[in-house]
Formats: sequence, structure tokens, C-alpha cells
Amino acid sequence: MPLITVNSIIKEYETAHALRGVSMEVKKGEWVNIMGASGSGKSTLLNIIGGLDSATSGDVIIDSVNIEKLSEDELAVFRREKIGIIFQQAHLIPYLTAVENVMIAQYFHSMADESEAKEALQRVGLGQRLSHRPSQLSGGEQQRICIARALINSPELLLADEPTGNLDRENTKMILELLKKLHSEDHFTIVLVTHDHFVSTHGDRILTMEDGHIIRDEPVNDLRS
Ligand SMILES: Nc1ncnc2c1ncn2[C@@H]1O[C@H](COP(=O)(O)OP(=O)(O)OP(=O)(O)O)[C@@H](O)[C@H]1O
Ligand SMILES: [Mg+2]
Repeated sequence: MPLITVNSIIKEYETAHALRGVSMEVKKGEWVNIMGASGSGKSTLLNIIGGLDSATSGDVIIDSVNIEKLSEDELAVFRREKIGIIFQQAHLIPYLTAVENVMIAQYFHSMADESEAKEALQRVGLGQRLSHRPSQLSGGEQQRICIARALINSPELLLADEPTGNLDRENTKMILELLKKLHSEDHFTIVLVTHDHFVSTHGDRILTMEDGHIIRDEPVNDLRS
């Protein structure tokens, strides 16, 4: 039973056909990367999987729930319980410390717990930066807070849209090693959008998009050798 099943998704905007019939499956615990040129529909697909946007037609089934059929309120609960998201921009709250930025996510989920938030930051290597504000941290460090924040409520699914897009090679490697470690420990499922070939060779599988279609689906192993 796959964790995610996407059936014939079409997404039309007034001025663009972003997705022209996309179907795919992601197994529980799998790490799938989505590649493709700018404008090919990667973010649109990720946003629809995450319930941040709705499809014009088609179904998205996550953990046996057809999320296209949920009301706004049901969808908000579903997202809160099941999904963590990281973006290219950190979107941290500038006047809060690292640990407070993680606690905000706990608060919106259920209840803030400072010691648990600190532990999460230690896990991403920021144990020495707990009381720093975002402007006092490097881009890579800020992105590590985002990872701690996205995973603090133990989501089953982590969605990432160009999570290393603003980082240099060194920090990109650090973030990927961190994701590898956390993924191997906690076995959550990852769907990650990138246009960086180096990034895409981490994880299990690569889907390539072109003009609103998935045109290739290949295991990462085939490309490493
Ligand atoms: N809110 C919107 N309104 C109108 N058109 C949109 C909207 N969002 C995306 N599009 C269009 O849909 C198509 C797919 O966009 P999308 O953002 O999914 O591409 P992408 O593959 O993520 O590109 P990039 O690599 O540049 O982030 C593009 O033609 C884009 O202009
Ligand atoms: Mg995009």
C-alpha cells in the first residue's frame, strides 16, 4: 500500500496548464526527488500533494485519505498531523530565537515543549545556537532550524521544495547528510523538489517532469554507478 497515490492530476491556471495529467505513487518510507526545468510543474505538484493547493481534477490519496475531498478545516488538521514542509526560503520569525521558532510549530500542533524543542535542535547540530535569532545564523543553520521545525511533530511525510536552493555546495552537503541521517533513523517519507543533479542523487528515486508531465521515473542507484 503506497503512502501517496496521485491519480491523473490536472492543474489549470487561467494563463497556464501547470499539470497535464500526472500520476505517481510513493511508498511509505521512500525518498523521492522531483527534477525538471523551471516551469515544468514541480512546485505545483508538491503543493497539491501537501494540500496547499487544490487540483482542477484528479485525486491525491495520502495514507488512504483522498485529500481533494476534505473540507478546508479537515485539510488543516490533516496537514498538521501528517505533513512537514521546508522551502527554499527559511521563513523563520526574525524576532524569535531558534528554539522559539521550533516551539511555534509545537504550539500550533498541540502544546509547546521547550525541552523537546531544544532536543530537536541538538539533533540537527544546533545545540550551541539555541538562543540565536535567525539573523545571527548562517543560511545553512537557518535551514537546519527549518528541518527541526518541520519534523518536531513527527510527520509521516516531509515535503521539501528546493531546500538547498540558497546554499553553497558545503552547506548543501551538510543538509543532505542531515536529511539522510534523520530519514534513516525515523523512516518518514520524503518528496523533494530540486533542479540540482547532485541533490537528486540522494534518496531512492527520481521523477523527471517536463511541461506538466512526468516523463521519467528511475531509481537513484542506476545513476550513482
Ligand atoms: N498561482 C499561479 N498562477 C498562474 N500560473 C501559475 C501559478 N503557479 C504556477 N503557475 C504556472 O504553472 C507552471 C508550473 O509552475 P511551477 O511553479 O509548478 O514550476 P516549477 O517546476 O516549480 O518551476 P521552478 O523550478 O521555477 O520553481 C508555470 O508555467 C507557472 O507559470
Ligand atoms: Mg518551483
